[in-house]
Amino acid sequence: MSTIKSNLDDGARILNSAGVESPRQEARLLLAHASGLSVATLMGYPERVVENDSLFRQLVSRRAAREPLSHLVGRREFWSLPFKVTADTLDPRPDSETIVEAALDCVSDRSAPLRILDLGTGTGCLLLALLSELPTASGVGVDRSVAAARVAAENAAALGLGGRAAFVVGDWGQAVTGGFDLIVSNPPYIPRDHIDGLELEVSRYEPHLALAGGEDGLSAYRAILPDVPGFLSPGGVAVLEIGADQADSVTALAQKVGLLVSPVRSDLASRDRCLVCRKG
Ligand SMILES: C[S@@+](CC[C@H](N)C(=O)[O-])C[C@H]1O[C@@H](n2cnc3c(N)ncnc32)[C@H](O)[C@@H]1O
Repeated sequence: MSTIKSNLDDGARILNSAGVESPRQEARLLLAHASGLSVATLMGYPERVVENDSLFRQLVSRRAAREPLSHLVGRREFWSLPFKVTADTLDPRPDSETIVEAALDCVSDRSAPLRILDLGTGTGCLLLALLSELPTASGVGVDRSVAAARVAAENAAALGLGGRAAFVVGDWGQAVTGGFDLIVSNPPYIPRDHIDGLELEVSRYEPHLALAGGEDGLSAYRAILPDVPGFLSPGGVAVLEIGADQADSVTALAQKVGLLVSPVRSDLASRDRCLVCRKG
C-alpha cells in the first residue's frame, strides 16, 4: 500500500532523473493536485495511505517528459493572482511583472477611468493584473489565438474582472481603434533559430505563436509599433516587454515611429526587460 511519503520519494526520484530542477517540491505539488490533499497535509502526515495513486503516477511521467507543471495542474500565479493556463497560452512569467510595475509607475491617479490595451494578451495576465490595481480602469486584450482569448476571458471572469475586460481575436492592432491611456504588450520575441535551444518545457510545450519573433526576434515589434502613436491618448504610455538583448533594436524601431523612449527598465535578475514609450 503506498503512502504519501513513498509516493513523494518515488515521484521525486523520477523527476530528478529527468532533470527537473526542484523534484521534491514539484512531486509534492503534483500529489496535492492528484489527491486533493493540501500541501500542509502532505507535509504533516507522511505515513497516511494514498488510496489511488494512478493519477499521480501519470502526472509524474508527463512531468518527467518535461511537460510544464503549470499545464499539469492547470494554473500559474502572476501578480499574486491565480491564472488558468493551457497548452494554448504562454505561462505568465515573474519577469513580466516588471511590465505591470512600469505601467503602474506611469499612472498618476489610480482611481482614474483609464483605458488599457493589451496586445498579445495570452492568459490576460498583464491586463488583468493592471485592472486588479486600477479599480475604475477598463481594457481590451487582443490575441490571434482564439483559444488563448477564451482562456483570458475565463480568467477575467474568475477574478471578478469580467465586467471591465473585453477580449478580441485579431492580428495585433487591426481589430481596435485608439484612445488608450496605457498600452501593454509582451509580444513573441524569440529569434527563430533560438527556439529549439530553449528549455524543453518551453520549446516542446509552449505555443509557437507566443514565442516566435521571426528571423531576428523583432517582427512583432515591427508590426505593433507603427500603430502605437495613433492608439495612445494624449499623455498615454506604451510599455513593451523586450528580450534581454533587444533594448537598442526596439528603441530604434519605437523612435522611427516618433515615440519617445525612457531608459530601459530591468527585471529582478537585472536583465533589460521593458521599454516605456510616449508620444513625441
Ligand atoms: C509572449 S506571449 C504573451 C502572453 C501574455 N501577454 C503574457 O505576458 O504572458 C505573446 C502572445 O501574443 C500572441 N500573438 C502572436 N501573434 C499575434 C498577432 N499577430 N496578433 C495578436 N496576438 C498575437 C500569442 O498568441 C501570445 O498569446
